[in-house]
Amino acid sequence: MINIETITALCKQRGFIFPGSEIYGGLANTWDYGPLGVELLNNIKKVWWRDFVQKRIDVVGMDAAILMNTKVWEASGHVGGFSDPLIDCKKCHERFRPDKLIEEATGDVVDPANHEKLLEIMNRQKIKCPSCGEMDWTDIRTFNLMFETHQGVTKGGGTLVYLRPETAQGIFVNFKNIQGTSRKKMPFGIAQIGKAFRNEITPGNFVFRTREFEQMELEFFCKPGTELDWYKHWKDFAWDFLIGSIGLETKNIRFRDHAEDELAHYANACADIEYHFPFGEKGGSWGELWGIASRTDYDLKQHEKFSGEDMKYFDPETNEKYIPYVVEPSLGVNRLALAVLIDAYREDKAPTSDGKEDVRVVMKFHKDIAPFKVAVLPLQNKLADEATKVWEEINGRFTTDFDTTGSIGKRYRRQDEIGTPYCVTFDFDSLEDKSVTVRDRDTMKQERIKIDELADYLTCNL
Ligand code: GAP
Repeated sequence: MINIETITALCKQRGFIFPGSEIYGGLANTWDYGPLGVELLNNIKKVWWRDFVQKRIDVVGMDAAILMNTKVWEASGHVGGFSDPLIDCKKCHERFRPDKLIEEATGDVVDPANHEKLLEIMNRQKIKCPSCGEMDWTDIRTFNLMFETHQGVTKGGGTLVYLRPETAQGIFVNFKNIQGTSRKKMPFGIAQIGKAFRNEITPGNFVFRTREFEQMELEFFCKPGTELDWYKHWKDFAWDFLIGSIGLETKNIRFRDHAEDELAHYANACADIEYHFPFGEKGGSWGELWGIASRTDYDLKQHEKFSGEDMKYFDPETNEKYIPYVVEPSLGVNRLALAVLIDAYREDKAPTSDGKEDVRVVMKFHKDIAPFKVAVLPLQNKLADEATKVWEEINGRFTTDFDTTGSIGKRYRRQDEIGTPYCVTFDFDSLEDKSVTVRDRDTMKQERIKIDELADYLTCNL
């Protein structure tokens, strides 16, 4: 099985993801996305926006500010309750989340707010510090995950504001604005993609858990009583999206329905789609990829209470007035990108020119997700000018790389490793027959195609 170190190394070597602030010794758990990484992220967001917003008559988009009035976070419950349990090792002073230590040791998911139970399990299971191996813990405390900063230049540091820990609240506070201007009738949804920040106690596992990340969230508003049908709808829709539009393998994802006692007080149903990540030593572990929650009318009610604004919807068909219920599929862009990188990675056997067998690393990205769709490769440098004309002809229609460095075999391998579905080779015959060789990443089959027909050929296949 592939391990996370292999993926991290490939990402760095090929220009997907680099450690953040590297030339200054880094900043723990920050990551910068390179030329291929940014294409990958953009493609993931593009496909999500296409399927969740543009293809749906009942969903509209928005883009809220990251900095919001502090009252938003009081109303949402984040100021009072957005915290994780924290425990310190008295010997080496490392800090951990006790619920995660228990989950790693026993596989059990325990309510993170129940400190008494967490401590009892830590003692019963004799859970030791993963850093120094001792068993000498402090009491469990709560730690608020919101990043604080200050706005304005007044003496004393200005006004306290938070970096948003989720994009969802930007949607709730704009519910009235958007419903009124879009004239959407119930049921309808508002979607948003944007950065979120959480001062995580134990970030890690590459880009799985970071303090700065991006979310793709949909808040789907519906009539009370219909929410569980919509909840089922969005669970199925999310699943089909991961398989059909992102190209994840069915065997690597599963649903985990939350038990009754695990539900947040405002939710009446919740499930995660989990991905089988190659973390840990036991052949990998399942981790949350996508949270889908039926949040009742909690958020809008809270904002009505704290802002004094009426958050009710007037139904023109039934003349009823009510606060809508909400179903929320919430997905991390970077976490999905990690799942995509892991899922796409293959080590295929490939024949060498002298009849032996070699291992070919190939990223089998879904074609919509692949950073480059096509690479144009002049067989030799002296063909670069003519090959550039081919590149110019197709580059506006497909994201296209142009590579002249190294042998053609090495260039094919490089394109396989970055998951480019098609390589187009311009050779000496191309000057005469006005054709190029198109090589398929997955089958490695090569076809001779007229340059005039290349764009149509690629359009049909991409
Ligand atoms: N509005 C609901 C909400 O934010 P969540 O389960 O806390 O729910 C939703 O987050 C998704 O955001 C997660 O399923 C995960 O994909 C992503 N996510 C959350 N915290 C993250 C982190 N620290 N780093 C990367 N992705 C994260």
